[in-house]
Amino acid sequence: MNPTLLFIRPLLALIAFTALAASAHASKDHPLIGLSLDTLKEERWQHDRDDFVAKAESLGAKVITQSANSDDTRQTTDINALINRGADVIVIVAHNGEALTRAVKAAKQAGIPVIAYDRLILNCDIDLYLTFDNVKVGELQARYVADRLPKDRVGKIVRIYGAPTDNNARLFKQGQDNVLNPLIKSGKIQVVFEDWALDWKPENAKKITNAAITKNGHDIDAMVVSADGIAGGAIQALIEEGLAGKVIVTGQDAELAACRRIIRGTQAMTIYKPLKNLATYAAVAAVDIVRGKKIETTQTLDNGFKKVPSVFQDVLIVDKDNMQATVVADGFQKAEDLK
Ligand code: BGC
Repeated sequence: MNPTLLFIRPLLALIAFTALAASAHASKDHPLIGLSLDTLKEERWQHDRDDFVAKAESLGAKVITQSANSDDTRQTTDINALINRGADVIVIVAHNGEALTRAVKAAKQAGIPVIAYDRLILNCDIDLYLTFDNVKVGELQARYVADRLPKDRVGKIVRIYGAPTDNNARLFKQGQDNVLNPLIKSGKIQVVFEDWALDWKPENAKKITNAAITKNGHDIDAMVVSADGIAGGAIQALIEEGLAGKVIVTGQDAELAACRRIIRGTQAMTIYKPLKNLATYAAVAAVDIVRGKKIETTQTLDNGFKKVPSVFQDVLIVDKDNMQATVVADGFQKAEDLK
């Protein structure tokens, strides 16, 4: 036999086997869902994953979860692995909204639909975007602070934004700007320090807070911080300076640690995003897409490539006064854990 054929035959057999393995899961009754997460380090994403997997499995699907540990290269590898394992649909929480264009392209070329979960993926052909009203999150945080600043003098604030690589971080800032900019312009509020916390890491927020205190001393009334994880880092720095409880600090996600800080008075508020609703919606949508059902959405959002069919769920302010009636009543946190 021709030696080239001898070499090529097993290769062709391998390719055929791989194709078979890839399509082995492509059953509409039991879809295989790939879930690619940026990280599982923050409590919120553990809730998202648990609720998503529970709902997907109740619908007959199997979920393979990957977590990229805030690393773009790893998330691209994760998505390629999900493609190779024959995922019927891939749901992605992007670490970096601009870094996954090629990975999404590869999925689409393999005929796999892609759902962007919570964070938008830019400049590529995603099928659906499911999130919360992120601009409203920022508006509620800033309004909460603005309403509580001293009225007889200029209120001095520090602003800590999230990861600059996360499109949501920009939307939270945009919402905060909507409320704060007019007050800054009219001289009622002064921003004494501001920075972005890379990768949403608490230690980066702590460093920013230390730098703000080094520059301004203790003359800070409030900190508009975009999420609970980084609020934890900021508050650690405030504790070390004897300022915790004296400075109004915002957050987002209603994480257990943040709810406890709110009860103790070191954090003023958080934003509750009913993650179960989003995760459930996403699981149903993922299964429906595989089963060929059309997902109806009333809104779209331009991601630079197309107007992506989108869903924006509502959010709520949580502070000491309504914690029981919101996160506890909803079963998101347990009353006994908050003591
Ligand atoms: C999410 C927030 C979260 C943050 C850090 C954002 O994209 O919308 O809920 O706190 O990432 O993980």
